[in-house]
Amino acid sequence: MKSVVIERPGDLQIQERPLPLPEAGEVRVKVQYASICGSDVHIWHGHNPFARYPRTIGHEFFGLIDAVGDGVDRARIGERVAVDPVVSCGHCYPCSIGRPNVCKELQVIGVHRDGGFSEYALAPAANAWRLPESIPDTLASLVEPFTIAANITAFLQPQPDDVALIYGAGPMGLTAIQVLKGVYGVKTVIVADRITERLTLALNNGADRALNNSEIPLAEQLDGVQPTLIIDAACHPSILAEAAALASPAGRIGLLGFSGEPCAITQQSLTSKELSLFTSRLNSNRFPQVIAWIEQGLIEPEKLVTHTLPLSQIEQAMTLFEKDPRSCCKVILKVS
Ligand code: NAI
Ligand code: MN
Ligand code: ZN
Repeated sequence: MKSVVIERPGDLQIQERPLPLPEAGEVRVKVQYASICGSDVHIWHGHNPFARYPRTIGHEFFGLIDAVGDGVDRARIGERVAVDPVVSCGHCYPCSIGRPNVCKELQVIGVHRDGGFSEYALAPAANAWRLPESIPDTLASLVEPFTIAANITAFLQPQPDDVALIYGAGPMGLTAIQVLKGVYGVKTVIVADRITERLTLALNNGADRALNNSEIPLAEQLDGVQPTLIIDAACHPSILAEAAALASPAGRIGLLGFSGEPCAITQQSLTSKELSLFTSRLNSNRFPQVIAWIEQGLIEPEKLVTHTLPLSQIEQAMTLFEKDPRSCCKVILKVS
């Protein structure tokens, strides 16, 4: 089979690899479509602290189950599935309280183990979620990025009368906009980014207001409006302090970033307004929820897609994704 392998940081190859056999409890997926995420690019460049090399990348993928290991119902062969990349031990403290995404032995498919930019991929059977026919093959890999928004909003508990502010109109910001508007019916969703084209995309994805904060500070543009719910989907360490300053008293702030750089913030800026701070990593069993949202038409994954390319053009696709945020948002890879 052909697989996209990062042999070592900086070295991306399409390799011919032996077809893997599913172990007990696993399924093998014949991958049809996958999508590119920032973390794939980070693994390529050696900027993902969790990655081990060589690694077949890709954690957003869809395909058909074509083989099963011992203990897995053979009737599942042929099922159309989207794969949850979060593999957990099932018995540690976070697993025991329903938060397998921060399992003490967390393994992420495409990061800690081989992923879906490949003609075939293995996954635990429980990670392969059957899709209804109403979700087309071409969009099925986008369940995963929406689970990130599902996870953080589960902490933030958006309400219709919230005034939401989202930093960043990249894929993560856009999924958050769609979930706030389409699922939770939040009346006002304001988005900040520095790239005009991304702000246009934010409006197309349902945002009510799009603010370019490259020159004029947000405080000035908001003109006294105090957001009650803020999501940092841009993830620069300087954002938290600004978010705390802008937030309404009793507001909630959600963080998605993984920067290793310190961010300076005072206790006073948080406590005086009794702000709540939530962090969110990947997703805790949110695939069924997102699949239902797509089925019900509450979210529209097609609005994120700007390009579709074959797996054979992976290097061009990843370069476009990385270098051209003005024209590029989600890239779908046609695998087979
Ligand atoms: P992206 O790089 O495509 O989008 C970020 C956007 O933020 C860009 O459009 C950029 O112009 C904008 N931006 C940068 N600085 C800004 C600022 N100060 N104010 C306003 N906008 C600003 O990235 P993507 O894929 O949307 O991911 C966003 C972040 O989310 C990344 O840092 C990524 O590591 C993180 N992430 C976290 C996950 C989690 O589970 N916690 C999962 C996936 C991504
Ligand atoms: Mn992703
Ligand atoms: Zn665990």
